[in-house]
Amino acid sequence: MHAFLNRRRLLALVMASAAILAAGVATSASAGNSRHWTHRPGPGGASITSQSWGTAPDGQAVNLYTLTNARGMTVTITNYGGIVQSIDVPDRKGQVANVALGFSNLAGYVTDDTTTTASGETYFGGIIGRYANRIANGSFKLNGVTYTLPQNNGTNTLHGGPDSWNMQVWTATPISGRQSVSLQLTYTDPAGKNGFPGTVAAKVDYTLTQDDALRIDYTATTSAPTVINLTNHTYFNLAGEGSGDVFGQDLMINADNYTPVNANLIPTGVIAPVAGTPLDFRTPKPIGQDINSGFGQLVLAHGFDHNWVLNRSGPGLSLAARAYDPVSGRVLTTWTTEPGVQFYSGNFLVGDLIGTSGGTYRQSDGFTLETQHYPDSPNEPSFPSTVLNPGTPFNSTTIYQFSTANQFPTANQFPTGP
Ligand code: GLA
Repeated sequence: MHAFLNRRRLLALVMASAAILAAGVATSASAGNSRHWTHRPGPGGASITSQSWGTAPDGQAVNLYTLTNARGMTVTITNYGGIVQSIDVPDRKGQVANVALGFSNLAGYVTDDTTTTASGETYFGGIIGRYANRIANGSFKLNGVTYTLPQNNGTNTLHGGPDSWNMQVWTATPISGRQSVSLQLTYTDPAGKNGFPGTVAAKVDYTLTQDDALRIDYTATTSAPTVINLTNHTYFNLAGEGSGDVFGQDLMINADNYTPVNANLIPTGVIAPVAGTPLDFRTPKPIGQDINSGFGQLVLAHGFDHNWVLNRSGPGLSLAARAYDPVSGRVLTTWTTEPGVQFYSGNFLVGDLIGTSGGTYRQSDGFTLETQHYPDSPNEPSFPSTVLNPGTPFNSTTIYQFSTANQFPTANQFPTGP
């Protein structure tokens, strides 16, 4: 038996043999907290199960879905906010750990979203929309009209404003492929919500592939011109969530340039070279190596919380970043169609949150690689446009691929896909 067969996978196999349902698309509903099958494992051994996970503040039922691939990697995702709740992957010895920060139950996420904590809203694992990152002064102009948004981060609008996409109950449809499984999530964001024009119909497909990649495909259409910037806000700790800080984990970001920010963390509009600064991650280095260097940009943000301008040779998926934990050997490689990545070193975690396995999250106990367009693009005409018009769908893909190695990998093996 593969060393990577963890408890969840074993339970899945036992239950699958007892209750095999028809493969294909099926929605699920379940009573109580019992786990039940929506799909039998496909020929490749991949499966998706669901369990009820409580009720959202708006009264809607919430489920937790467990996606498992043939190698036993599991990802749990809830349709509350489309949150990636856990990612279980093996280390180089086959020991499985959850590498995504989060909470053990729905109440943890709802509290994070609705109460003022010292750590602020963490957005752990959530789908971020309609506009990920910051819009300066809660305002932007489109086609001559000025739109005013609620300010929820000083004078900025952050991550779409309050009551945003990471807090909505999405409609979930599990889909079994031959060797991969997907969870399709849809949500319609009404015109005027948080001040944005146009009704946006969004679809996010999470796919767990046979080669240990979590692929996220975003699509969106609008009824009227608007702006859009979508990302996922998973915090990673390759040694396992709750295991301490990520300072010893090595990071490479495939970017020659970044967008320096002002004191409100709004880009100044300048595209600046990383060369000669602590933001130079072109050659892998430990996340903690230069974080306390006193460099002005890092002082402003209390660490790394910047947008890197990704090097790319054309449109399509290209390498964004890679992280490696020398102790566990776990590797995370990020590919994206987006022009930028926000690398955030968990600066605002201050030790007041109890994570999934019961430990406390302190500053830099996790990092995010939020693939996206640049912050405040609606107010910065020189940045790639975030305008979405009717008739032209928005499409974006990001892949988080996991593997293990004995040293920082230099070869770029593109995932084989679903
Ligand atoms: C993003 C922002 C950070 C912080 C986190 C959530 O990554 O860039 O400044 O607000 O979200 O805490």
